[in-house]
Amino acid sequence: MKNILVTGGAGFIGSNFINYMLNHRDDFNIVNLDKLTYAGNLANLTNVVNHKNYTFVKGDICNTDLVDYIFNKYNIEYVINFAAESHVDRSILGSEIFFKSNVLGTNTLLEAAKRYRIKKFVQISTDEVYGSLGPAGKFTEQTPLSPNSPYSSSKASADMMALAFYHTYDVPVVITRCSNNYGPYQFPEKLIPLMIINSMNNKKLPVYGDGLNVRDWVYVLDHNRAVEQVLESGKLGEVYNIGANREMKNIDIVKLILSQLNKSEDLIEFVKDRPGHDRRYAIDSSKIQNELGWKPKYAFEEAISQTINWYIENENWWRNILSAEYLEYYEKQYELR
Ligand code: NAD
Ligand code: DAU
Repeated sequence: MKNILVTGGAGFIGSNFINYMLNHRDDFNIVNLDKLTYAGNLANLTNVVNHKNYTFVKGDICNTDLVDYIFNKYNIEYVINFAAESHVDRSILGSEIFFKSNVLGTNTLLEAAKRYRIKKFVQISTDEVYGSLGPAGKFTEQTPLSPNSPYSSSKASADMMALAFYHTYDVPVVITRCSNNYGPYQFPEKLIPLMIINSMNNKKLPVYGDGLNVRDWVYVLDHNRAVEQVLESGKLGEVYNIGANREMKNIDIVKLILSQLNKSEDLIEFVKDRPGHDRRYAIDSSKIQNELGWKPKYAFEEAISQTINWYIENENWWRNILSAEYLEYYEKQYELR
């Protein structure tokens, strides 16, 4: 058995990862350390809560004593650090918690990884660290980092710290940089679940700017299959881009959702643009494909349609998490535009 610490495992991608791993592997004991911020939801893990290879610890990755206790008690050999503040708009409203959780939190985990001489530390990063593309070209692992939002700057800082620990202390770090994910359990502040839920409620769909910004979409299970591959065979000190080669303009995603839900395009409302809004992301994932043999398995048309159906069928899930705090945030966000 391998003992692995998954941080942020109650969030969107982390919970999909834990469900995926415990469903098809029996050689991992997973300890999930999650602070349960507004984005963390234990309901995402109902299927594994009693699994013999699963332990949940509520806590902050910035808490050195707690992190130390976990490494020691569970004999942690591997870390996958999903924990982060992940929403760009929130980082524009207030950057401090992004610096704390994403930079200082990662640093705390790296320090523990150094003390306990673990076998591998997978830092889950993002394509946003590369900044924005013009109409042509793709991000490769050699693209210089040029983050534009407080969120992406904090993720780039964490990447730099992780690589510094590799070079300075031989901490066995590998970094993944993935493009935009979609799938079940995504918090409805992100484009796709927000637009699905607003459409279902006949609420306006706020499209930023001209709606022509481009994102490169990957199904969350393909991302997690790649993370598993990197955990198994990713080379230490390396960065791997992850993406499924599926660029879409925001407005086209919104229209696709409206069409599947049989709703009118009159619900679309163009609103003031996000400050510093990156125009286009596109990932070149040939390195992970050629060197580790990963490739995306899920076709966009089918997976997006299943994702929309998941939100239709799991109305209780999203109604339960639309807390007063979230609705207040949403209104504030909307008023700014
Ligand atoms: P999310 O916001 O849905 O979940 C984040 C989780 O981290 C939550 O469960 C939250 O409670 C937890 N968390 C936050 N701060 C914490 C702290 N200080 N200590 C412990 N737990 C904490 O995020 P997500 O979309 O699942 O993203 C997961 C990771 O993947 C992030 O590192 C993000 O930067 C990266 N990423 C996301 C995408 C995407 O499209 N969503 C794409 C590429 C990379
Ligand atoms: O690229 C990977 C990144 O993708 C991750 O690192 C981030 O954690 C994740 O949040 C995501 O960032 P984006 O800013 O691309 O995602 P978001 O869903 O917030 O927005 C997607 C696009 O849709 C973006 O161009 C802004 C636009 N948008 C978003 C919202 C929420 C709208 O037009 N209207 C909206 O209401």
